[in-house]
Amino acid sequence: MGIIKTFKRKIYKFNDYFSKNLNLSNKNIIVTGANSGIGFDLVNKLNNNTNYILAFVNQKKDNIEKINGDKIKIINCDFEDVEQVKNHATELDQFNPNIIINCAASFGPKKQNFEDLDVEQFHSIFNINVLSPLLIIQKILKRNNDLKQIVNITSYMGSITLNKKGDYYYYRASKALLNSITKNLSIDLNKKNINVLCIHPGSVKTKMNPGGDISTSQSSQKIINICSENNFKYNGKFIDINKNILEW
Ligand SMILES: NC(=O)c1ccc[n+]([C@@H]2O[C@H](COP(=O)([O-])OP(=O)(O)OC[C@H]3O[C@@H](n4cnc5c(N)ncnc54)[C@H](OP(=O)(O)O)[C@@H]3O)[C@@H](O)[C@H]2O)c1
Repeated sequence: MGIIKTFKRKIYKFNDYFSKNLNLSNKNIIVTGANSGIGFDLVNKLNNNTNYILAFVNQKKDNIEKINGDKIKIINCDFEDVEQVKNHATELDQFNPNIIINCAASFGPKKQNFEDLDVEQFHSIFNINVLSPLLIIQKILKRNNDLKQIVNITSYMGSITLNKKGDYYYYRASKALLNSITKNLSIDLNKKNINVLCIHPGSVKTKMNPGGDISTSQSSQKIINICSENNFKYNGKFIDINKNILEW
């Protein structure tokens, strides 16, 4: 198993060696889940002296604070409590994002089988993975005319069609809801020319998935490539980082 994984990682790295690295500049960008994993890597790459970044983190900001850059504003906000998003209305009013990249998510507890389901747990995962990010988007849309893209980082585990293994109720259901809301928003925001899509970031080595196949750098670069192209072909779509359309 170890050899196969190592081999897989090498193949992915080799393929990515030839892929292009696009950039984003002169943009205002909101990134959630910005103190670790894919979100943190995104902030690192987007921190190029021309972008302004509003970085939402949970309680910890030890990693992101180490990034040098005076155009990053960090907001501590625990998404489990939706009221906390409302407390940041002023910052959201003042920041006119062109792009929102929502990475924050909790996988939830290890045990998520049917017998152990707990409604409170369900609520808290839904708050983190769906409702708090949605409140941020709602708040932005009330005042903002500069928004061009909303990218929700989802998971293939939220696909109802691709689900062959069951289990993981909280995570699967929350990502399925995020996918559904993304599709709905894409229709509602079409008249405003806002590109709304969800991206499965791949199997990425992070604290959520220590056995992941690719690095945060490989994944975040491809997310940036997709944002940089801002192709409306993907509006309302569920895609992976290689731009393959996934089934809902
Ligand atoms: N890694 C993969 O293979 C994989 C596969 C499919 C989808 N994804 C998706 O990719 C995204 C990024 O995940 P990742 O792999 O980079 O894992 P990660 O490092 O665990 O990132 C998740 C981020 O969400 C934040 N978060 C969790 N609970 C929060 C809360 N209550 N309030 C505010 N923020 C909270 C975490 O902050 P704290 O750690 O400080 O709480 C963390 O920065 C997620 O949406 C995940 O579902 C990842």
